[in-house]
Amino acid sequence: MRKESKTIVITGGAGFIGSHVVRRMVTRYPQYTIINLDALTYAGNLENLKDIEKSPNYIFEKGDITDEAAMKALFEKYAVDAVIHLAAESHVDRSIADPLQFVKTNVLGTANLLNVARLAWQGQFEGKLFYHVSTDEVYGSLGETGFFTEETAYDPRSPYSASKASSDHFVMAYYHTYHFPVIMSNCSNNYGSYHFPEKLIPLMINNIINRKPLPVYGKGENVRDWLFVEDHASAIDTIFHHGKQGEKYNVGGFNEWTNIDLVHLLCKIMDEKLDRQPGESASLITYVTDRPGHDLRYAIDASKLNKELGWKPSLQFEEGLAKTVDWYLANTEWIKHVTSGDYKKYYENQYDHR
Ligand code: NAD
Ligand code: DAU
Repeated sequence: MRKESKTIVITGGAGFIGSHVVRRMVTRYPQYTIINLDALTYAGNLENLKDIEKSPNYIFEKGDITDEAAMKALFEKYAVDAVIHLAAESHVDRSIADPLQFVKTNVLGTANLLNVARLAWQGQFEGKLFYHVSTDEVYGSLGETGFFTEETAYDPRSPYSASKASSDHFVMAYYHTYHFPVIMSNCSNNYGSYHFPEKLIPLMINNIINRKPLPVYGKGENVRDWLFVEDHASAIDTIFHHGKQGEKYNVGGFNEWTNIDLVHLLCKIMDEKLDRQPGESASLITYVTDRPGHDLRYAIDASKLNKELGWKPSLQFEEGLAKTVDWYLANTEWIKHVTSGDYKKYYENQYDHR
C-alpha cells in the first residue's frame, strides 16, 4: 500500500501486539487515520495506549468482531481503506480450558470481518487491503532440527492453533474465490512491554518480583523462537506497505531458547536488577505438570521477508529482555491493574492444581 492518506482499522489494538502496532502507525504516519477496534476482553487494556490516545489521527471504537451488525456499522461510519487484523483469543492454555471461545473469536470473528469488508468494498478492491496477523503455531511442532517456511504444511495441534489455522484458510479462500485483497504474516513468540502476565516471560517476571514459584511446564525443554514485539510491529509495517497481495510472510527472530534456559537468563538479569544474591530467583523454579499436547519446538525461517522486503530484527535477545524487565519494574501499577479480578481466578485454576 502506498503512503497517501488512508483510514485503517486495526483490530485488537488494545492488546499486547496490537497496541505496539497502533502506536507505531499513529506516530509514524500522521496522514493516516487509525481506528482501534477492540472488544476490551480481559486481554485488552486502553492503558496500553495512554501515551497516544489524544493524537488527532487516533480513534478508539469498542466493538466485537463476531458481531455482524456492529462491523457493518463500522464500515458504514468510516470509509475504511485497510484492515490490520490482530483481534483474537491468543493464549494456548485458555484454549485448552475453553476451546469454543477460540472458535467463536478466531474463526467466526475473522470470517465475519472478512465478509463485512468484502461486501463493503465490493467492486472497489483497488487500493484496499485486509492484512491478517497470524502465528507460527499453525505449522505444528518441529523436531530438533529444521525450520518453518511459508511452504510448510499446516499441522495445528492445540485448539488455539487450530482456530488460527482455520482463520488463515478463510483469508486465503477469500483471495482465491473473490480476488479479495489479502496479505498475511505468521510470527513466532513475541516479548516486550504491555505483555499480559499469563504468558511465559511476563508471568515469570511478575513472579520473580513477588518471590512466587516459577512454574516451568514439564522438563522445560520446549523451544520457542523469541522476537521483540517492536520488531514484529516493524515487520507488520513493512509487509503492509511493501508486501505482495495473496502472499504470506514468516516473521521470526532466529532466536531459539529452551524454556528452562530462558527462565535462568531472566532470573540472572533480575537478580542483578533487584540487588538479590546470584541464584536467589532461580531457587523459585518449580517444575509443574506439562501442558497437554505441548508443542516441542517452533523455529521460523524469516528469510523470505528479509530477501524480498529487506526486514530484519533490530535487537539482540539479551538487550531486549533487559529492556523488557526494566519496563515491568517501572510499571508495577500496570501489572497490578491487569492482574486484579478475573486474572486472579484464572491463575488459581491454572496453577494451584498442577
Ligand atoms: P492479546 O491477547 O494480547 O490481545 C488480543 C486483543 O484482541 C485484545 O485487546 C482483546 O480485547 C481483543 N479481542 C479479543 N476478542 C475480540 C473480539 N471478539 N472483538 C474485538 N476484539 C477482540 O493478543 P496478542 O498476543 O497481542 O496477539 C495479537 C495477534 O497476534 C493474535 O491474532 C495472535 O494470534 C497473533 N500472534 C501473537 C503472537 C504472540 O507471541 N503473542 C505471535 C504471533 C502471532
Ligand atoms: O508462537 C507464537 C505464539 O506464542 C502465539 O501465537 C501465541 O499467541 C502466544 O501466546 C505464544 O504461544 P506459546 O504457547 O508459545 O506461549 P506461552 O507464553 O504460553 O508459553 C511459552 C512456553 O513456555 C511454552 O512452551 C509453554 C511454557 N510455559 C508457559 C507458561 C505460561 C511454562 O513453562 N510455564 C508457564 O507458566
